[in-house]
Amino acid sequence: MRAAVVTSFGTPPSCQDFPDPVAGAPEEVVAEVVAAGLHPRVRSQAAGSHYTSSADLPLVPGIDGVGRFPDGTLRYFVLPDTTLGAMAERTLVDVRRSVVLPAGTDPVVIAAAMNPAMSSWVALRRRVGFEAGQSVLVLGATGNAGRLAVEIAKHLGAGRVIAAGRRADRLAALSGADVTASLGEVGEVAADVDVVIDYLWGEPTADAMRAIVTGRRDKDRPLTWIEVGSIAGPTAALPSAALRAARLQIVGSGQGSVPTRDILAELPALAEVITAGALQIDARAVPLAEVETAWKELDSEQRLVITP
Ligand SMILES: NC(=O)c1ccc[n+]([C@@H]2O[C@H](COP(=O)([O-])OP(=O)(O)OC[C@H]3O[C@@H](n4cnc5c(N)ncnc54)[C@H](OP(=O)(O)O)[C@@H]3O)[C@@H](O)[C@H]2O)c1
Repeated sequence: MRAAVVTSFGTPPSCQDFPDPVAGAPEEVVAEVVAAGLHPRVRSQAAGSHYTSSADLPLVPGIDGVGRFPDGTLRYFVLPDTTLGAMAERTLVDVRRSVVLPAGTDPVVIAAAMNPAMSSWVALRRRVGFEAGQSVLVLGATGNAGRLAVEIAKHLGAGRVIAAGRRADRLAALSGADVTASLGEVGEVAADVDVVIDYLWGEPTADAMRAIVTGRRDKDRPLTWIEVGSIAGPTAALPSAALRAARLQIVGSGQGSVPTRDILAELPALAEVITAGALQIDARAVPLAEVETAWKELDSEQRLVITP
């Protein structure tokens, strides 16, 4: 079969021949891949730099996708850590990690949206005790996951949603936020927020945390900071005083910190919401043969989706 293949970390995958998968365990099936998202997590997998990465090569990247299953159903699937990923004509799927998609689903839209949408959906529904009416700050709101987090927080009942990011033009184009703010303004506009969904980490997070804690009027009010992404840096010099001067709790949400069964349990509801068109998704299909070119497209606002 044809597949996107990484033969050395740091070099983009190219479309090559690759051995066909063979199902082994009773719950395993070979799915015909229809669409697989090129998420930041997939880029770090292909670069060998994700915290789950091993040194094993060659590697077919792709952590999730939409496929036609042997029983004829169209399903969204999530793969375990594997060297046979979703960017191939066929892949090996554990049926327990898949969900039948609603009729009328666009596979490209699902493949584009599930991973970035899951980041905030799972964080709010499974990682913290989020309650309707609470206010939410999305830190790094201009990427695919951040934009969806703004809409998902509203969808799940958030009161006030503040979207903060570094680029004014992209912030202005956001839908669903009650307030938009530059990163330097969060201390003013988000000081009394209940929940932060943080895609940035690094220096912007340290600055935002300092500003919010300093500006907080009600020090007794709990502040839950959810670390979801680290697009601005893998480490952050957090001010120790922030942890003493406010009722701040910092948690992470992602693979490992939320049980896989909890993530899987959220997939059907999220797929329904996406299929219903309740979220704005900007997806672009790219044929598998052009995977190498797609890899080099780093500044796209769209979520690229590889289609075998
Ligand atoms: N934990 C989870 O479950 C989970 C799930 C999905 C994604 N994630 C993580 O979430 C993060 C975002 O994913 P994504 O799919 O939204 O990626 P994306 O679509 O590529 O968006 C990333 C955005 O980050 C912004 N950005 C980059 N560097 C920045 C900086 N120094 N300061 C401020 N903003 C910066 C850019 O926006 P501008 O150019 O407009 O500033 C860019 O659009 C990634 O780290 C990803 O791994 C986590």
